[in-house]
Amino acid sequence: MQKAILVTGASTGIGHHLAHYLAERDHLVYAGVRKEADFAALSGSKNIVPLKLDVTDLGQIETAVTHITAQGTGLYGLVNNAGLGGLGHLTTWSEAEFQQIFDVNVAGPWRVSNAFMDLLLAAQGRIVNIGSQGGSVTKALFGPYTMTKHALEAYTVALNEELRPFQVHVSIVQPGGIVSNIGVNGLPNMMARLRRAQPPFAEQAQQILASFESPPTPPDPDAPESETNRQPSSPEIVATAVYHALFADKPKLRYMVGTQWEGDRVINALLDKLLDANDSPAHRYSRDELVSLLDQHLAARTHASA
Ligand SMILES: NC(=O)c1ccc[n+]([C@@H]2O[C@H](COP(=O)([O-])OP(=O)(O)OC[C@H]3O[C@@H](n4cnc5c(N)ncnc54)[C@H](OP(=O)(O)O)[C@@H]3O)[C@@H](O)[C@H]2O)c1
Repeated sequence: MQKAILVTGASTGIGHHLAHYLAERDHLVYAGVRKEADFAALSGSKNIVPLKLDVTDLGQIETAVTHITAQGTGLYGLVNNAGLGGLGHLTTWSEAEFQQIFDVNVAGPWRVSNAFMDLLLAAQGRIVNIGSQGGSVTKALFGPYTMTKHALEAYTVALNEELRPFQVHVSIVQPGGIVSNIGVNGLPNMMARLRRAQPPFAEQAQQILASFESPPTPPDPDAPESETNRQPSSPEIVATAVYHALFADKPKLRYMVGTQWEGDRVINALLDKLLDANDSPAHRYSRDELVSLLDQHLAARTHASA
């Protein structure tokens, strides 16, 4: 049966691919965009209804709620996909840039989910947040972006618990590197931050800026993936995970998607966090107790998914 699903940030990248993926499977997609040209490009696509939707603009969000309500389709699914990227030393982010990335990546999903809550409750529907592996791992230069994705993890878990009694499920999809416009869109602000870096960060910032002067080296698919030979995946793997979160009888809370190299990076970071948590005077499990706990959790999962 056709379901109505709102995808925010559908102009490019993951959101654009997802809107078509869902529409091709005969669902009705409300596709949130900000620019006239993107609205026009999506108009006329079968099963896609473009909507002007900036997730920081309460007026546009209210208009979108009124519009969808008036269509009489209800809203079964909301995919909070709209997001900003951006790299740079933490000290180089301006107050406005810092607030903006949180406004879009964290307050955006909260604001849009709240606005559509009545429709989602009535449909006993699903919310899917597009997080990132940066919600579990972080490193130098990725500070504010990964801070927002860590926040989205907490938001997802809390919201899922609050909505569970009302049969609305909330999931988070955590992609690694995906082919999209996120790098290009974040480039001007990133360059500006690198240019205004002060000592002791200026030297590294200048080296990064200089590296932009030579043409980028394309990924070598025959060499193993590494920090310097990243191999971004197709947005298809995100769409497949979102589809499961929207329609499976037993949706998962978290969907990590990406390459083996990226998966290893996340697992290793989480193992470090686990061992940090275990390194406490108040409680400390032995190696065998930790292994036994892991076995118990694996068994509980197998039982729950049977
Ligand atoms: N690509 C990756 O490697 C990757 C990895 C992990 C997670 N993600 C996440 O995936 C999501 C989609 O990103 P993407 O990679 O597909 O990047 P993208 O191609 O840059 O797409 C971002 C989308 O968000 C929209 N957007 C930005 N600010 C907005 C606002 N205030 N209101 C509404 N829409 C807004 C953009 O619209 P405009 O065209 O109007 O700017 C665009 O449609 C993001 O949440 C991102 O953090 C991406």
